[in-house]
Amino acid sequence: MKITILTLFPSMFEGFLKNSIIARAVANEKIEFECVDFREYATDKFHRVDDTPCGGGAGMVLQCQPIVDCLKDVRMPNSKVVMLTPSGRVFNQKVAREYAKDEHLILLCGHYEGFDHRILNYVDEELSIGDFVLTGGEIAAMVVSDAVIRLQEGVIRTESSNDDSFENDLLEYPQYTRPIVYDGHEVPSVLLSGHHENIRKWRLEKSLETTLEKRPDLLQNRQFTKEELKMLQNIKKNKGIK
Ligand code: ADE
Repeated sequence: MKITILTLFPSMFEGFLKNSIIARAVANEKIEFECVDFREYATDKFHRVDDTPCGGGAGMVLQCQPIVDCLKDVRMPNSKVVMLTPSGRVFNQKVAREYAKDEHLILLCGHYEGFDHRILNYVDEELSIGDFVLTGGEIAAMVVSDAVIRLQEGVIRTESSNDDSFENDLLEYPQYTRPIVYDGHEVPSVLLSGHHENIRKWRLEKSLETTLEKRPDLLQNRQFTKEELKMLQNIKKNKGIK
């Protein structure tokens, strides 16, 4: 898979690319990653990419020409073009899985007050990483890239990504490591029992319990197995929830 970032600030991605799992994924060619500065496409003699808003108002608006010309240059027949804006579809693990299957993802980062609305004619979708406003799309593009890269084959262990929070619409069960007792706090004994079936059941129960407590909205439209339904009923009974 290839990810292309269209940005006025390519240097913001240097730290992201230089560290940990992402750096290894790039080095092992699990992902091809490029940043393109769309200012280089500006035909204006001062390389301007923005102008004042039509109708007046504060701030500057990114113009069509540099972005559309840059897109024409980097786009391939199989590319998906995503514009990062606070008014887009909200990003989550399902969207990450969807994008992870694309051969080429182009992430368009804005800055200043926003994009000329006509740029929407040249993109596949708008995407937001949450209900807040960032100074630009770059950090959002890193969030999306990180979530998509770790889902590429061979980047992390598959069992590890299958157990993640939000896979199967459940939050992850609690994890522990040595020492077995830390400052009087003990690791649950079932995890030391070596009994795989009991450990699986405990983890499923904890996932259900945590999700019910912290994100009950995730359980609203979820299909449960018989085992999960029974566990959930028990958890609710013990907590006195109907
Ligand atoms: N640009 C500014 N805010 C954003 C957000 N919440 N998501 C994606 N891109 C953005």
